[in-house]
Amino acid sequence: MNFQDIIRKKRDGKSLDEIEIKYLVKGISDGSLPDYQVSAWAMAVYFQGMDDRETRDLAMAMAYSGDVVDLSFIPGIKVDKHSTGGVGDKTTLVVIPLVAAAGVPVAKMSGRGLGHTGGTVDKYASIPGFQVERGFTEFTNQVQQVGAAVISQSGNLVPADKKLYAIRDVTATVESIPLIASSIMSKKIASGADSILLDVKVGSGAFMNEQQEAENLARTMVEIGKRAGRQTIAVLSDMDQPLGRMVGNTLEVKEAVDCLRGQGPDDLLELSVVLASYMLILGGKCSGLEEASCCIKKLLYSGQGLAKFNELVQAQGGSLNYNLENYGLIEATIKRKVLADDQGFISALDAYRIGHTAMMLGAGRERLEDRIDYAVGIEILKKRGDFVYPGDVLAVLHINDENKIETASKEILRAYTITPNRPENKPLILDIIE
Ligand code: URA
Repeated sequence: MNFQDIIRKKRDGKSLDEIEIKYLVKGISDGSLPDYQVSAWAMAVYFQGMDDRETRDLAMAMAYSGDVVDLSFIPGIKVDKHSTGGVGDKTTLVVIPLVAAAGVPVAKMSGRGLGHTGGTVDKYASIPGFQVERGFTEFTNQVQQVGAAVISQSGNLVPADKKLYAIRDVTATVESIPLIASSIMSKKIASGADSILLDVKVGSGAFMNEQQEAENLARTMVEIGKRAGRQTIAVLSDMDQPLGRMVGNTLEVKEAVDCLRGQGPDDLLELSVVLASYMLILGGKCSGLEEASCCIKKLLYSGQGLAKFNELVQAQGGSLNYNLENYGLIEATIKRKVLADDQGFISALDAYRIGHTAMMLGAGRERLEDRIDYAVGIEILKKRGDFVYPGDVLAVLHINDENKIETASKEILRAYTITPNRPENKPLILDIIE
């Protein structure tokens, strides 16, 4: 067998068998397959696709390309959550403590943010003292004692994906359903949870701009999960505009804490309750959505979710000060308003442009080695459906570099579409795929 034949076969639209896929994944992991051949193969997959069996084989071969976490010694059904990536998506911070407070253990390995979407690990790391790099024993001990722990995905977990993703990122081959599905599911399978809840984002700020594409991705991932013996549910949610009102690390932590205090923005609250409810169903705590959502709301409004959040933060060395308005999180030195220059309804708020602007301010990374400024970001005051007059504040930039004010303000203005007519209401939850 040689790599050239495998690339040719895929280029010509044929299916690769399991042995060829394992050979390819081994070559990616151990470096025997040069980057130019991996790139050629990824481009062939981009154009020719993969059938369901090939995609599953790829996901499984990647999942077992490195270490595989064994959580079986922790009692109970361990449930994991994964978002395909969005702007202002801080639901993990809200959902994990609620689910843990209900008695479902959550062992969460999260990635750092890349590109216009934020990363959960960066949000936790913006809490003073919070440690995201921890040993595996410490991590699992905390899951047993607190019910939840969060660490950055490190070590030798899914090395094939690490290499393949880095190549896809620079060869315009990220947006391929079989490659995205196998990349995400390989990491979920290797992370050891028994059940998986996926939040598949749809819209301008997501990988999938169209609902049909997102549904195909969701179905592919649910099928991979099931075949791997992991019960998997996917929630399709809107990412045409940012979730909540805050984009940027400490800003998002503050909003998540506000949400756990029952004061969250409606969209963040709605999605968090739905995701947490499905996690209770997957964790075997509840049999239906109504019962699960009732349970989650009780935990939220009684403060038990917030108490669990604090337990998790303290267990990982972090601290927040509830006597201060910003909970002791670092703040940017400059706050600059962006004003509407027109009158009418906001008919669109481009999540991609907002995410990209936040990244440009320093809230995210263009490359994995870039340093993040936790305090910077964008506070969004007006969203789709709101009516504005010229001079109304659309958003507030939180920045540390004056030189970025002008470009960022222009970008924010370009993200807003203002029209005379009220836009149609769009649901936040678009579909559930089980
Ligand atoms: N997130 C991943 O982990 N992999 C992809 O390919 C896309 C999004």
